[in-house]
Amino acid sequence: MNDLQEGNIVIIGSGLIGRSWAMVFASGGFRVKLYDIVQEQVSTALEDIRKQMEELKKSEMLRGSLSLEDQMALVSGCTDLKDALHGAQFIQECVPENLDLKRKIFSELDRYVNDSTIISSSTSCLSPTSMFSGLQHVKNCIVAHPVNPPYYVPLVELVPHPQTEMATVERTYNLMKKVGQSPVKLMKEVDGFVLNRLQYAVISEAWRLVQDRVISPRDVDLVMSEGLGLRYAFLGPLETAHLNAEGFKSYCERYGEGIKRVLATFGPVPEFDGETAEKIDQALWEDEGDKDDQLKAGREYRNTCLSHLAKLKKEMKKN
Ligand code: NAI
Repeated sequence: MNDLQEGNIVIIGSGLIGRSWAMVFASGGFRVKLYDIVQEQVSTALEDIRKQMEELKKSEMLRGSLSLEDQMALVSGCTDLKDALHGAQFIQECVPENLDLKRKIFSELDRYVNDSTIISSSTSCLSPTSMFSGLQHVKNCIVAHPVNPPYYVPLVELVPHPQTEMATVERTYNLMKKVGQSPVKLMKEVDGFVLNRLQYAVISEAWRLVQDRVISPRDVDLVMSEGLGLRYAFLGPLETAHLNAEGFKSYCERYGEGIKRVLATFGPVPEFDGETAEKIDQALWEDEGDKDDQLKAGREYRNTCLSHLAKLKKEMKKN
């Protein structure tokens, strides 16, 4: 098999994110061991990965240069942690978002890994300090926070613990690039990392606009999907501003006062419950049809759109 990479990747936790990471690494030619505590969970995960890959192949969206069978052959399941860790160069933890559970797993990994193995967490919001402090291999620990679903959305936020070695950051960065993800490096930890801080600012203002009866929930979503979001799929907010004037400084000179005036009206952090939550929730369900079916259809539509967008972005890449 050509394009096979050296060293094993170990995924701890074979749920939604673990499966997607396994597919990403296999698409890059890495041997992947998918570890979970329950055998049934591992078997279901492997079946689901095959199903997902078959669907991707059918729609010509399978990533990487290897065939489906070659990629599948790279992924194996495991319920014995020591076995899973044999020959591991990189561990991606994907267990539920629970600090005690994650700490327990990291202290176990700390006992088994060698000095060159990287221990990486998929956590969405737990800080590296809270998870990795006190570990013997803390210099090898990092957060690599994916965006759901990582197979279609390539961004990965790399967040170091204060004692994480630069070499760990660089190796993780290079690995992510190698498997086709788009890593960004945070210089230090911050609550919510960067993606969620930006996302929460947007959700907060969307909430306020609905609460203040300025706009309906469906229309506020259209402002993003038919307006801002179209640009943001290709350019970030800073470059967008830069191009909307004669450079970023010129944008600040022209629009800075107006932006400050509007920002001053934003008000306190919303409570995220009560009447507005009810109103938004109601608006987002269709009148007819089972709710589970609606969610399934919505997620399938999202994934199809994202995979087409990923293709387009590849074609549109500068240089
Ligand atoms: P999930 O609940 O789908 O999967 C968790 C898996 O961990 C299950 O297969 C479970 O059997 C396994 N598990 C539980 N205890 C274990 C143990 N002691 N050892 C090994 N495996 C164990 O969770 P999901 O959604 O995949 O999330 C995993 C992590 O990824 C969380 O930290 C989450 O915050 C993060 N994340 C999730 C995103 C999402 O949208 N779901 C997006 C980005 C990050």
